[in-house]
Amino acid sequence: MKSLIIALALVAAVPLPAHAEHRTPRDLRELAYQNGIRIGSAVNIAALRDEADYRKVLNREFSHVTAENAMKWESVEPERGVFTWSDADALVDNARRNNQKVRGHTLVWHNQLPAWLTSGVENGTIDAAELREILRDHITTQVRRYKGKIRAWDVVNEVVNDDGTMRQSIWLTHLGPGYIADAFRWAHRADPHARLYINDYNLEWNAPKIETTFSIVKDLQAQGVPIHGIGFQGHLGIQYGYPGDWANVMSRFADLGLEVAVTELDVRMELPVTSEKLATQADYYRRALTDCLGVKACREFTVWGFTDRHSWVPGWFEGEGAACLFDENLAPKPAYHALLGVKKA
Ligand code: G3I
Repeated sequence: MKSLIIALALVAAVPLPAHAEHRTPRDLRELAYQNGIRIGSAVNIAALRDEADYRKVLNREFSHVTAENAMKWESVEPERGVFTWSDADALVDNARRNNQKVRGHTLVWHNQLPAWLTSGVENGTIDAAELREILRDHITTQVRRYKGKIRAWDVVNEVVNDDGTMRQSIWLTHLGPGYIADAFRWAHRADPHARLYINDYNLEWNAPKIETTFSIVKDLQAQGVPIHGIGFQGHLGIQYGYPGDWANVMSRFADLGLEVAVTELDVRMELPVTSEKLATQADYYRRALTDCLGVKACREFTVWGFTDRHSWVPGWFEGEGAACLFDENLAPKPAYHALLGVKKA
């Protein structure tokens, strides 16, 4: 017995062979784990409900999820005071069962607002004071509902234009620029542990947008506003070139003390698909993950849908598509394999 115990102790003391830690991961979940980050995907709730193969790949590969549409204002409060949480709940429940963290998307945006709200503001039945109350109640209700279940919230989304000016949304025009600080404070009060993000597209490369966003963050920090993270959406296209300075931009925001996340990565192309385009796309995905892993503050790498079966791209950009890691039949594309080969420097 004694010698058996000694033998077991010896086996337990033997370190893992180096290749066990550094071998090619079997899937994205393992890749993420090996690199100390979470790899996520946006989720189409109809597909999550109705498509077993979609569900299987989502839950196997991803350790972080974002609702593609189900947490947006028009989805959760289509009529004033009538809340429809079932889709958002379904995502959060599925995440809990599958060890996935959740990004809440999004609290304040100019898009996908319910018609009762936009028409009320337009026809003057909702004035500025009431609009402010409505926004505060919306943020408080939604963040409180998922308190402790959402790792990070996109508190404000796309508040800066490409030319670096502030977006003239109903929020800015009726509430003034202070709505951003208010939104963060209200969200923080509703869930003090959630990481609160500012999120935008083209932040990977667009200098005016980067500079204005940088100033917004510094200004919020100077006021003591609880802002914790910067989300780079990362909607790329192979015809535009890879944003080669992205890692530096991430570092600049990290140096302000922010957590960094890639929140909506996809890499579209002009159709038809060719093997050459797929190889370029794979390289973009590989570089994006490499850039994220090169910045210590980059904690999350989320793609905006994982399959070409359900992607927003063809509906928005005529003649473009094939932007995801898996094809319509859920076969992994070269980009998927390229990600598995990425190693932290
Ligand atoms: O739900 C309605 C349905 O009832 C109706 O029959 C149908 C007819 O068009 O439309 C459905 O709504 C669509 C909605 O997605 C839900 O599927 C809208 O038309 C469509 O415009 C909407 O698109 C979404 C888009 O945001 C809207 O701005 C995309 O799915 C979603 O991927 C996209 O996501 C955004 C992020 O939230 C923010 N960053 C950019 C990103 C891509 O645009």
